[in-house]
Amino acid sequence: MTKPVTNHTLKVRELEKVYHTRMGPFIAVNKVSLDIADGEVLAIVGESGCGKSTLSRLLIGLDQADGGEIRFNDRVLYRASDAHASHRNDGIAIVFQDPFSSLNPKMRVVDLVAEAFRPTKLSAIKGWRGRRVTRRKRVVEYLNLVGLDETHLDRFPHEFSGGQLQRIALARALAQEPGLLILDEPTAALDVSVQAQILMLLKELQQRLALSMVFISHNLGSVAFIADRIMVMYLGHRVEAGPTRKVLDHTRHHYTRALIEAVPSINPHRKRRVSTLVPRGSILRPASRSCVFADRCPAATDDCRQHAPSFTEGPGGHGFACFHPLSETQP
Ligand SMILES: Nc1ncnc2c1ncn2[C@@H]1O[C@H](COP(=O)(O)OP(=O)(O)OP(=O)(O)O)[C@@H](O)[C@H]1O
Ligand code: SF4
Ligand SMILES: [Mg+2]
Repeated sequence: MTKPVTNHTLKVRELEKVYHTRMGPFIAVNKVSLDIADGEVLAIVGESGCGKSTLSRLLIGLDQADGGEIRFNDRVLYRASDAHASHRNDGIAIVFQDPFSSLNPKMRVVDLVAEAFRPTKLSAIKGWRGRRVTRRKRVVEYLNLVGLDETHLDRFPHEFSGGQLQRIALARALAQEPGLLILDEPTAALDVSVQAQILMLLKELQQRLALSMVFISHNLGSVAFIADRIMVMYLGHRVEAGPTRKVLDHTRHHYTRALIEAVPSINPHRKRRVSTLVPRGSILRPASRSCVFADRCPAATDDCRQHAPSFTEGPGGHGFACFHPLSETQP
């Protein structure tokens, strides 16, 4: 169910990121705009290399954008025209795909999680003993949230399974008390059975804490389960966005349709309409004057090869960038 848009936690306008490679400039994120309301989950989908992680790094401030604007809770985090804008990302936390490499192997769980606490809260408690007890108690609260307990406090990362490590990474992110949590393929490195457990946990936490989330995934099933809205990216561009069921059931963009068709089906008679999703030609191209999907689109016309469609939003916040969209009424 789509939640009513009340207060936009995150507003991103025409965000750009250009990497300067030996083969020339490469636009990894191309004028992408998005909004996330309070307590809303936005899924970002698209094939490998379309710019999902780059976008999340821009949001959290791990990378500096090259154009556009990021506002979080009405605070400007980044604005291209403001040379002095410093990207303070407090309030946004991230969980990466691989918990093995995102947690320091030399730190105990208690320190890994407590490192994320804001310093002022603990320093207000008098005496180191008091601070130590309070610190451990607070870490246990976060461990309990993710299904772990005090017996895990003094262990090191190598003593845990992948699923447990991802729970610790999640506890660490929650300990930052974020207004927005970014999950960059949080289940991709885990076994299938563990993936489902982590997904259930995320859904439960999201509902319990009314968290705003960016959920990046290749798995459209997970996306349908957790997300209120979806944004589809192709080669750095936003090509379709809207409420989850609208985008999945009333797809307008040909690339989104190709992504859905590429999901393996248990029905052997179901045929894929687009045989491959591997990019053709060079992806190291500058801003093009054609539709970004023109060289792979079954519906491309001369118009599509000579002009770039702009992203237009329709009723219910369902938008797409296509001159010849799929019919709205199709299932
Ligand atoms: N530091 C960098 N220098 C040059 N190019 C980069 C750099 N980081 C990322 N890229 C390129 O930017 C594009 C987007 O990368 P990104 O990691 O955001 O993709 P992604 O959508 O997260 O892919 P995946 O699903 O595989 O994680 C890719 O083509 C990548 O090669
Ligand atoms: S604008 Fe043209 S090439 Fe691009 S997705 Fe639409 S029909 Fe295909
Ligand atoms: Mg990525």
